[in-house]
Amino acid sequence: MPRTYLVTGSASGIGRAVAERLQGQGHTVIGADLGGADIEADLATADGRAALVTRAGELSGGRLDAVVACAGVAAFDPLTVRVNHFGAVATLEGLRPLLAAADAPRAVVVSSVASVHPVDDELVEAALSGDEGAAVAAAEAAVERGEGRVIYGSTKRSVARWVRRTAVTEEWAAAGITLNAIGPGTVVTPMTRPMLDDPEARAVVDTAVPMPLNGHAAPEQVAPLLDWLTGAENTHVTGQVVFVDGGADAVLRGDGTW
Ligand code: NAI
Repeated sequence: MPRTYLVTGSASGIGRAVAERLQGQGHTVIGADLGGADIEADLATADGRAALVTRAGELSGGRLDAVVACAGVAAFDPLTVRVNHFGAVATLEGLRPLLAAADAPRAVVVSSVASVHPVDDELVEAALSGDEGAAVAAAEAAVERGEGRVIYGSTKRSVARWVRRTAVTEEWAAAGITLNAIGPGTVVTPMTRPMLDDPEARAVVDTAVPMPLNGHAAPEQVAPLLDWLTGAENTHVTGQVVFVDGGADAVLRGDGTW
């Protein structure tokens, strides 16, 4: 049965691949991105987040079957905090009332295997407490210490933990809305292409994200998992971070977590 999806980050990479896959199955996809999408909104800003919610309500007629929060950046910069954590949380919280109007509502956010890398605990805790100013300040402090590289993984950790604690609440589980995250390994997209084209940077990436099964992924190899998690068939998977990483999480964390 055709469903209506909202996909952020729909103009590129993983978001584009899942949007195209869903459209190919006959579903309606409302794309959102900085440009080249049905809804053009900057999720780093309060105005952009509000515009997303307003336009999504108009374009969907007040009901969304699923939301895929994919928009993200990987800069060693506080912007990454604004987009990856607060932009994603605003997307999911803002669109939740539209999901609540559907029969089989589903939501998923794209975290990363970088969520298991070392993080800035202050940044993560500030993000989880909903204090954007404090989280941005922690990111600025990390940049000043020359540790800007921890920002990305910190945002992916905080959004994954937000999913864990939020999925089982009244507003989500008790309302019949699944809420999960996925944790991709290295996916070849415009975000990673410049690093992967540089042999030195590629070696650093491959050490940080070892992928013994089939190596780097194409966005089209990640999209089916997003498709299943947000489909009506997913009745009981919620609060999970599902790694789609060629085994990287199992290499990095071993059998101490499951
Ligand atoms: P991409 O750069 O191809 O696509 C990201 C999209 O997000 C772009 O279209 C961009 O315009 C949009 N975006 C960025 N900032 C935005 C903002 N302020 N407001 C609205 N839209 C914004 O990157 P890719 O690789 O497809 O990444 C998608 C998601 O997957 C991101 O959250 C990324 O962190 C995550 N991810 C990517 C991995 C990879 O290896 N490529 C690995 C793990 C996670």
